[in-house]
Parts: sequence; C-alpha cells; structure tokens
Amino acid sequence: MSDQAVRNSAFLKAARGEAVPHTPVWFMRQAGRSLPEYLKVREGVAMLDACATPELIVEITLQPVRRYGVDAAIFFSDIVLPLKAIGVDLDIVPGVGPVVADPVRTLADVAAIPDLTPEHIPYITDAVRGLVTELVGINGGTPLIGFAGAPFTVASYLVEGGPSKEHARTKALMFGAPDVWDALMRKIAGISATFLRTQVAAGASAVQLFDSWAGALTPGDYARYVQPHSAEVLAAVGDLGVPRIHFGVGTSNLLDLMGDAGADVVGVDWRTPLDRAIPVVGDRSVQGNLDPTLVFAPTEVMTARAAEVITAGRAARGHIFNLGHGVIPSTDPDQLARLTEFVQSYPLD
Ligand code: CP3
Repeated sequence: MSDQAVRNSAFLKAARGEAVPHTPVWFMRQAGRSLPEYLKVREGVAMLDACATPELIVEITLQPVRRYGVDAAIFFSDIVLPLKAIGVDLDIVPGVGPVVADPVRTLADVAAIPDLTPEHIPYITDAVRGLVTELVGINGGTPLIGFAGAPFTVASYLVEGGPSKEHARTKALMFGAPDVWDALMRKIAGISATFLRTQVAAGASAVQLFDSWAGALTPGDYARYVQPHSAEVLAAVGDLGVPRIHFGVGTSNLLDLMGDAGADVVGVDWRTPLDRAIPVVGDRSVQGNLDPTLVFAPTEVMTARAAEVITAGRAARGHIFNLGHGVIPSTDPDQLARLTEFVQSYPLD
C-alpha cells in the first residue's frame, strides 16, 4: 500500500477518465449529523472549534470511510473556516449555518479582509498529513479530497451576513457596485486558492470547489461576474497535478461554464439527469447525482434509481457516483451502507 495505490484508486482513475475496477462512490457531507459516532465526538464542541482541532478533523473525516468503505474521504472542515482563520467575526450556528457579524458591503470592508497564508491554518496542514498517513492503509489506499468554497458562494455569506434564499443583497452588490464586487471576488479567490493549495501541499489527492449557490445566476451573469474568479481558484492548483471537481446546486444551465472554468470533473445535482449533463460538459468526468431523498425510499427503489444513474454515467469520460447534494442529517446510515455496496458491486457492463 502506497501513494501509488492511492493514485491508482477507482476514484482518481474515474476523475482522470481512465478505466475503473468499479464505479467509485463517496457522498457529500458523508461525515456529519447522520452518523451517531459524529454526534458523539462533537458533543460540547462548537463546529468551528472542531474544524481547528487536528485529532477531531482526522477522526470525523475517517468515520464514514470506516463505516461505508467509500472510495474517497472528504476533509472535514467548512467553506467559511478560512475566513474565521484570518479573523472575520463569524460563527456556524447549529441548524442555521454560517452567520457573519459585520457583513461586507463596501470597498473599505473588502480592504479590511486579510489575505490567507498557510501560517494561519497550521491545523489544516497537520490534519491533512495525519489523514493521508492513515488513508494509505485503508481499503488498499483511499484518496483524500480537499475543498474550498467558490467565490460566489462564500461572498453570499459575507454580504448577506448569513444564509439566504434569494442572495438579493449579494446580487445587488454584483449589479450595482461592480468595483466592490470585483475586489471582493478577487479577495475570496485568493483565500480559496491558498486553502486548496495548503491541503494539496499536505497530501490531498483531489480538490472540490463548492459553488453551492451559483444556481441563483443566469448564464450571462455567471460568465461575467463569477466564472473568471472561480477559474482563478481552479487555475491556482493547476500545477499540482490533482483532479479538480467543480460543483453547484441547480446549475443545469451553467454546467458548460462550470466545466470551462477549469474543472476536470463537473458535479451535477439531482435535478439534471446525467444523460443531459454529459453532452454539455464534453470531455470531462461527471460526479453525481442520486436525489438525496431517495435514501428514504425502500431500498429496492433507491438501488433501482442508483442503477439508472450508474448506467447514464457510462457515457461520460469518467463517472464518480455521489448524491446530487449533501447527505440529509436524518438519513439512515445503514441505507448509505447498502447504497455504497450496491454501487461498488454493480457490474461494469
Ligand atoms: O462531509 C463533508 O462533506 C465534509 C465537510 C463539509 C462541511 N461543510 C461540514 C459541515 C463540507 C464540504 C462543507 C461545505 C459547505 N459548508 C458548503 C458547501 C457544500 C454544500 O452543502 O453545498 C456550504 C454551503 C457550507 C456552509 C454551511 N456550513 C452550512 C449551510 C451548514 C449547515 C448548517 C446546519 O446546521 O444545517 C454548515 C455547517 C456544517 N458544515 C455542518 C457540517 C457537518 C453541520 C454543523 C454541525 O454538525 O454542527
């Protein structure tokens, strides 16, 4: 078992578009509240404190790998962790999400946000190193996915001051104050690039850029106001030789642009059938996209729908099975165990 085994894992092969021994599978939010072992270690520990504690990061990241034998681990952290690390006053409120004390609205607000350096996040480097050492010995070598928030999605939290459905203030800034918008997006792009580079430098084998809320944009606005900045983040890890996954929710009209931003793999939510997504993303791999609520259906219904996703995925350069968005906290872990087993043992043709 070695780095070579990790490089030859089904997950990385699919990301590179090579032949796979089985369809690789992992789940967004595979670590988290659906797991009793997660709830246990998080008892009395605030989310952002957990994200700054290497032993907890390692344990929580490994929990779903041990339980399910998924084909990849995703680093346990949050898209707002880098902001916290540079001193932005924010918290993750249980059941709500990230809340920012002083929302960013002006050029002076943007200028007051420091750049991120690896020295701000020594616990990230330590946790990634610890994880990579452990993962090399699990299931013949399991890759670690590092991640960051894309500029638009992170900007939405900073500008709104918290979670938002319409992203109205964010888009008002984008349309009404393009100079402030550009400065903010450049600032976040630099932060996200450093967050990704730090994880890869410490041993992460792939990265995922989460632009969860990009689906709020028209293709024209995405191309003009967002894509160049996400492209900057993806380009910043282009020399590191790791596959880049680019994911958003409700992005059926943006999949080509998200691919063109510099992705090797385009993440697709459950609303877009893969047979529609694949011609749009062209010569890239795809990741997705079972409706996360199908785990609440009878097992045979869930697996029949998973089979449809796997079959549709065959037309892509490579396919990584996932849910179309994160695991819903009330999900029964036994259903995810059955789903993992089903995907990994599904005949190749
Ligand atoms: O297992 C994994 O996927 C890795 C860990 C991970 C978390 N957040 C842990 C987390 C990842 C990759 C993220 C990314 C993230 N964070 C995104 C993009 C992914 C997506 O879901 O679209 C976004 C939009 C955020 C912002 C955020 N942080 C939200 C919306 C929430 C949920 C709020 C809630 O309580 O419902 C968080 C908190 C958060 N991040 C939790 C976890 C496990 C729950 C906090 C807890 O357990 O106390």
